[in-house]
Amino acid sequence: MSRTPLRLIAATTALATALVALPLTALSASAAEPHVDNPYAGATQYVNPAWAASVEGAATRADAALATKMRAIKTQPTAVWMDQISAIAGNASGNGLRSHLDQALLQKQAGTPLVVNLVIYDLPGRDCYALASNGELPATDAGLARYKAEYIDPIAAILADAKYQNLRIAATIEPDSLPNLITNISHQPCQQAAPYYRAGVKYALDKLHAIPNVYNYIDAAHSGWLGWDTNSGPAAKLFAEVARTTVAGYASIDGFVANTANTTPLVEPYLPNSSLTVGGNPVRSAKYYEWNFDFDEVDWTAHLYNLLVAEGFPASTGMLIDTSRNGWGGAARPTSVSTSTDLNTYVNQSRVDKRVHRGAWCNPSGAGIGERPQATPSGYAGSHLDAFVWIKPPGESDGASTDIPNNEGKRFDRMCDPTFVAPKLDNQLTGALPDAPLSGQWFEAQFVQLVRNAYPVIGGGTNPTDPTPPSAPTGLTAGTITNTSVALTWTASTDNVGVTGYDIYRGSTLAGSSATTSFTATGLTASTAYSFTVRAKDAAGNVSVPSGALSVTTTGTTTPPGGCKVAYSANTWSTGFTGSVKLTNTSTAPLANWVLSFDFANGQTVQSGWNANWSQTGTKVTAVPVPGSWNATITPGTTVEIGFNGSHSGTNNPPTAFTVSGQPCTIG
Ligand code: BGC
Repeated sequence: MSRTPLRLIAATTALATALVALPLTALSASAAEPHVDNPYAGATQYVNPAWAASVEGAATRADAALATKMRAIKTQPTAVWMDQISAIAGNASGNGLRSHLDQALLQKQAGTPLVVNLVIYDLPGRDCYALASNGELPATDAGLARYKAEYIDPIAAILADAKYQNLRIAATIEPDSLPNLITNISHQPCQQAAPYYRAGVKYALDKLHAIPNVYNYIDAAHSGWLGWDTNSGPAAKLFAEVARTTVAGYASIDGFVANTANTTPLVEPYLPNSSLTVGGNPVRSAKYYEWNFDFDEVDWTAHLYNLLVAEGFPASTGMLIDTSRNGWGGAARPTSVSTSTDLNTYVNQSRVDKRVHRGAWCNPSGAGIGERPQATPSGYAGSHLDAFVWIKPPGESDGASTDIPNNEGKRFDRMCDPTFVAPKLDNQLTGALPDAPLSGQWFEAQFVQLVRNAYPVIGGGTNPTDPTPPSAPTGLTAGTITNTSVALTWTASTDNVGVTGYDIYRGSTLAGSSATTSFTATGLTASTAYSFTVRAKDAAGNVSVPSGALSVTTTGTTTPPGGCKVAYSANTWSTGFTGSVKLTNTSTAPLANWVLSFDFANGQTVQSGWNANWSQTGTKVTAVPVPGSWNATITPGTTVEIGFNGSHSGTNNPPTAFTVSGQPCTIG
């Protein structure tokens, strides 16, 4: 496994494949339970006894407090990786597929579905951009033939056994493979592997989708790999292209799995808004995020879902997030948003992800176990989550930190070497844990760290309180109401980061901001109804939901005291003209905050104006004084001149229906 966020765009290779989407007709003879939208809903998941035994072993060697935590998670479900042909029958690394499925049948409670998480991971030329999980099959035609005949076919034959028809099998399809074709296609081994990745994934999808109780989830890397628009768009297109090469088309893919074996946080609680500016720059422009909008896996899955649906995937497409190692708890977890005005300091102090770089994928120091496996987790509606799952079994190595000979094809990747200054990580030390065994092997020191740094804390304990958006302001009320302004007050909002101010909306228009719990909305029209709401903001950029709406009608009459007189003139040429309006206050009282309007009959449009703020809706043109300007109040008997440039399409008759603040004016 590598998790590499290089920002190169995949070269597009032409697909000479017919775009067929045939209905599935050939189901296995004995009907399995129906294929549902979300296999995890209402289901339990398979607990791998071998992983549980590794955890129990670690517990016997740990101090009492740690052992209690370890034992508290040893019954969590983890995925079974078919990482070699020999894994199907069973080998020195673990029991075979049938053995797991037989165990799963024993774990299944009558009447409750059970999901087995299975990882399909043996493509020809596997892990083309890294070395730690290189595989047994070469990126050649012969390698692909073996992948089909000796790997996918036997797995499919076992899964199709009627004995297992009441299990739900959720297959994570080939971690890192298609994502590598997006960002690392310029790397020779990835170029070599590309056609075999496409053909192998298509073959796996076809074979596995034909089994009704199997659910296919395509690996979709993570936010720090594919989040940039230059990567995410091409990735969604590649997923769609591959889907369309399959017999069942889009239907052969039930969903996507993000963060497989990676440690990217579910959420960055102190960096909720990638566009918030600090020191004048958006947070996403910080070195750590390199302009990526997606800081975490909730961002990424929501982003990806929208792209996939736009590419033609059905709305029912579900997302999984591997949360086995993305907790980032422990003493290094921030407990407040940074107050620094230096952007990089702000980001580095605020982020929970403590890796040196988002591309650090191998046994990262500081990581912790994340959310426990859970179906349809609430609170992330935009992400369309089917479940949090543990695909990478916590405690299994990502790669050896030194060269260890083996017969699995795995090699020494310096990204797993803690002494290596990695060019791919901006010339920083990798941050990998020392003394790591080969990928997939039990790495107890890492497991201890993951348990210690779990977030949420294992076994209840005290969780540091993450920030939540401020509460919505309450008690919005109007104080003084005049014919042009309304004084508003409300009750303060709270959160654990600190409310820094409020935005006041008039309808859906931002009317202004306030640092306190009061605001006076000005520039209103007399005898007019308005609706106000208020939202609270905090230092991290969280914004509350709106307060309850308050409807207010301004007072007064629309009559400017006394009256008004208007004189209009225009200079017209082919399609343009300059209009001028002289507005006289013919009353005996000052005319403040006037609103001049008139109608054009020939489709004329006002383009820019002076001495007033001009706007136009359809035929109606409105001019109001620039707040606080010299002509905001017209004293009795005086005239102000305002004007604009406009365009017309041939006929340019003078406007009609001049009014000031709703009151008709005399023309002259
Ligand atoms: C390894 C596999 C292993 C898996 C789960 C991968 O990085 O290459 O051999 O089964 O991790 O630990």
